[in-house]
Amino acid sequence: MRILPDDAKGIAEAGGLLATGRLVAFPTETVYGLGADATNDLAVAAIFAAKDRPEFNPLIVHVADAGRAAELVEFDARARTLAEAFWPGPLTLVLPRRKDCKASLLCSAGLDSLGVRAPDHALAHALIEAAGCAIAAPSANLSGTISPTSADDVAASLKGRVDAVLDGGRCRVGIESTVISLCAEKPVLLRPGGIPAEDIEAHVGPLLPAGAGAPRSPGMLERHYAPNRPLRTNADFAAADEALLAFGPDLPQYAPARTRNLSPAGDLAEAAANLFAMLRELDHEPTRAIAVMRIPNEGLGRAINDRLRRAAAAFDDNPAAIAGGCGAVVDPFELGD
Ligand code: TXA
Ligand code: MG
Repeated sequence: MRILPDDAKGIAEAGGLLATGRLVAFPTETVYGLGADATNDLAVAAIFAAKDRPEFNPLIVHVADAGRAAELVEFDARARTLAEAFWPGPLTLVLPRRKDCKASLLCSAGLDSLGVRAPDHALAHALIEAAGCAIAAPSANLSGTISPTSADDVAASLKGRVDAVLDGGRCRVGIESTVISLCAEKPVLLRPGGIPAEDIEAHVGPLLPAGAGAPRSPGMLERHYAPNRPLRTNADFAAADEALLAFGPDLPQYAPARTRNLSPAGDLAEAAANLFAMLRELDHEPTRAIAVMRIPNEGLGRAINDRLRRAAAAFDDNPAAIAGGCGAVVDPFELGD
């Protein structure tokens, strides 16, 4: 892992890496982020691989300002009010994705929403500018470990897994951003963080706690994407009335016309990058069900299988599976990402 200095050369190099699909850790005012070009499916998939996450969690997309955010999400009046008051700063706004949103579906982890934030850090802004794209970034630590607040912390956690870290010294705030969902009528506090909830309530009224009163019904914006058709996992054939979501070079003898291959080469990063888009495509085909071939349960395969399991469980008429797997609500105390 290269440690790049906080100067014009370091910034240009980090921006160049991001623009070519590589990963760069960078400082924000809260914690260091593990950044990738938010519009590059493969680069975003690589974030999950580097963090060794066993499931896909939605990622925050870092932008220069509210104008740039509004290119990605439906930036309503409440969002404008909050951005005006707290951006740049440690506040993430979760909003419905625009139809023409260019951010990878992986950033949304299958949700119809996207988290956006303008960080309050000159180096982060310089990097966004140099890369020429919005930057998807979770905290730059291995899954389940503490968020890093210095370049050394990043190196200790992610050495060998990331191309470079841009060194901006220690982070000023040191805890992650407050995450607010504005996808429903009432704003919801998804994660307490750098901006106190009371300060936000002064602008948009009471925040619902995550979980309480948030709707969980199908079709709602915050629901994890589950196909409308039953999913049959670990399939080694597709029936005549099924579409096939394939993986790898060896297709079953009968592969229906409605087949998408997550990765003909059997590459798990490519499969992760294609997962949500291909599930959506097949879901639009007039078939009874979707047969999904076996995905190796290693590396990114674990996250892919986790998501497939949840999508399949949505059909088991199992409220616990739906609430736990496809529900709207992120438990703020389970956000150790
Ligand atoms: O301060 C921060 O927020 C840092 C810096 C790097 O910006 N980032 C950070 O990212 O903490 P991460 O991935 O470790 O945590 C982001 C949290 C996740 O737990 C995720 O569930 C939630 O924000 N989140 C992001 N997008 C979301 C969405 N569309 N819907 C619900 N929750 C979302
Ligand atoms: Mg985190």
